[in-house]
Amino acid sequence: MAIRKLLLLLFILSLLATPEATGQEPDTVKSVRGASNSLYAEDNENNCLVCHGRLVYSLTDTTTGTTRKQLMSEHNLVVPDMFYNSVHWSFSCLDCHSEGFKTFPHPLETRFESSWGCIDCHGYDPNYARYKFEEIDAEYQRSIHYTATEGLISCWKCHDPHYYNPLARQARGGREYIIRSNEMCLRCHGNSDVMGLINDENVSIVLPKHEWLPDVDRHMEAVRCIDCHTRMNDSVLVAHEVMPADSAVRGCAECHSQNSILMGTLYKYVSQETRVEKGFLNGVILRNESYVIGANRSKFISFTGMFLIGMTIAIAMVHTLFRIIIKRKQVVHE
Ligand code: HEC
Ligand code: HEC
Ligand code: HEC
Ligand code: HEC
Ligand code: HEC
Ligand code: HEC
Ligand code: HEC
Repeated sequence: MAIRKLLLLLFILSLLATPEATGQEPDTVKSVRGASNSLYAEDNENNCLVCHGRLVYSLTDTTTGTTRKQLMSEHNLVVPDMFYNSVHWSFSCLDCHSEGFKTFPHPLETRFESSWGCIDCHGYDPNYARYKFEEIDAEYQRSIHYTATEGLISCWKCHDPHYYNPLARQARGGREYIIRSNEMCLRCHGNSDVMGLINDENVSIVLPKHEWLPDVDRHMEAVRCIDCHTRMNDSVLVAHEVMPADSAVRGCAECHSQNSILMGTLYKYVSQETRVEKGFLNGVILRNESYVIGANRSKFISFTGMFLIGMTIAIAMVHTLFRIIIKRKQVVHE
């Protein structure tokens, strides 16, 4: 009897020791991920990853018995290690894809497969309440991506179905995070082929449109695209309402000031924490890799910064002036 009770106690204790009960961030659950912990690793391998999990796979013609090596196009490649380390690592491929894919060549109807949306699984589920999926979904439906493409640019086009991990909660605005976040956008906006597929208009690469910023490359590594292009929203961690470009942030002072908008966007997660801790808003930026001119209280540094900005603008103006003069001269010569 006593042993039974002890076992029961141990069992209850083991339940209490799960991450949820100890209040740890689920992000640390990552350690249990990996193919060796997946119930479906073998099925996934035999059904799908034999082909999709590698660049070179072999194909057999069952009527003639001939076998031949083929290349899997990169677009259709699903790298197993990355899949088993993503948020949906525990899934079978067939949880999201239809049984039709078990036959090859994949039958025509599989091409018309409609995929689940994030909201179908995560909406109104208290386990995921902190992500506010319902609100993100509503924001997304107001975004230019939804309205200009009738929903063609779904959540999956930015959140890779096989490799997704939420970044904003782990990263604290570091450079690598910013670059990875921006890559989500540049996959399309930095690639005229992809844009051509979605949009018939002659849409080109987007970076030249930002040359009004001094040192564009540096800015693109220091702020996220969404910091300028989404409508600010305090209740979700990552705002999703991408607005038409003419509503984007353009004023230098919106970032280079003591009340930098970056405190409500890029550094929202950190700033919410330190606001509680210290009640000092802009100190946070100084703890990061980025130092935003104007966003601290040192008059000297801010002055130097404003001086640099002033100089940049002045140089740009002089440059434009010269251009006008040269143009005029050319006109006179003709
Ligand atoms: C014999 C190798 C092989 C196996 C096994 C295989 N596939 Fe494929 N699959 C391919 C090839 C090659 C393509 C690209 C050519 C095509 O679209 O038919 C492809 C294409 C796809 C596509 C893209 C279709 C589209 O609309 O572009 C999906 C999705 C897919 N496979 C899912 C699966 C899933 C899920 C499984 C496992 C149940 C699976 N495949 C098993 C070889 C395979
Ligand atoms: C959480 C759901 C989910 C799981 C699990 C999943 N897929 Fe997918 N997969 C999708 C969605 C959604 C798309 C379509 C993406 C889009 O619309 O751009 C897709 C697309 C694909 C494609 C086409 C290429 C591409 O990336 O667009 C292939 C191939 C594929 N999946 C194979 C697999 C294999 C193999 C597995 C198992 C290891 C798997 N998928 C597991 C949701 C999933
Ligand atoms: C078919 C149902 C399904 C779909 C579709 C789906 N998810 Fe999930 N998602 C799950 C389940 C189940 C888990 C828990 C997986 C586990 O850890 O075993 C999960 C885990 C997550 C997590 C980790 C949650 C945490 O706190 O640990 C995030 C973030 C997430 N999903 C985001 C998304 C996003 C974004 C999309 C759409 C692009 C999406 N999911 C689509 C079912 C789904
Ligand atoms: C135009 C691209 C884009 C689209 C479309 C998009 N997202 Fe996001 N999403 C992002 C970016 C960028 C981030 C920030 C990177 C990160 O932290 O993972 C993000 C972050 C998230 C997060 C993590 C937020 C958190 O609190 O940690 C969730 C959840 C999410 N998106 C859900 C969705 C859902 C649901 C949809 C569709 C209704 C969607 N996203 C459509 C770009 C997009
Ligand atoms: C799957 C491809 C794709 C991805 C990923 C993507 N976009 Fe877009 N984006 C488009 C398309 C297509 C349009 C509509 C173009 C049009 O009709 O003007 C668009 C429109 C826009 C516009 C409005 C442009 C205008 O003319 O007013 C902005 C701003 C924008 N995207 C920013 C972003 C940001 C920021 C991200 C990353 C969070 C992102 N996009 C991710 C394809 C994409
Ligand atoms: C400092 C703020 C800022 C940042 C950061 C920023 N943008 Fe912009 N973006 C703007 C402004 C302002 C415009 C409008 C420019 C104009 O119309 O001359 C614009 C224009 C655009 C357009 C419309 C281009 C067109 O053809 O009309 C797209 C798409 C876009 N940006 C995407 C992005 C992407 C993707 C990133 C990240 C790599 C990004 N932006 C980063 C402020 C920003
Ligand atoms: C979305 C926020 C944002 C906007 C808008 C913005 N900046 Fe910046 N800027 C930054 C950040 C963050 C840095 C820090 C870069 C770093 O740490 O490398 C920076 C850095 C700089 C630097 C120093 C660059 C260097 O090479 O040392 C100058 C100069 C500058 N910005 C001028 C401007 C001017 C002029 C404008 C308006 C045309 C502007 N910025 C608009 C966020 C912004």
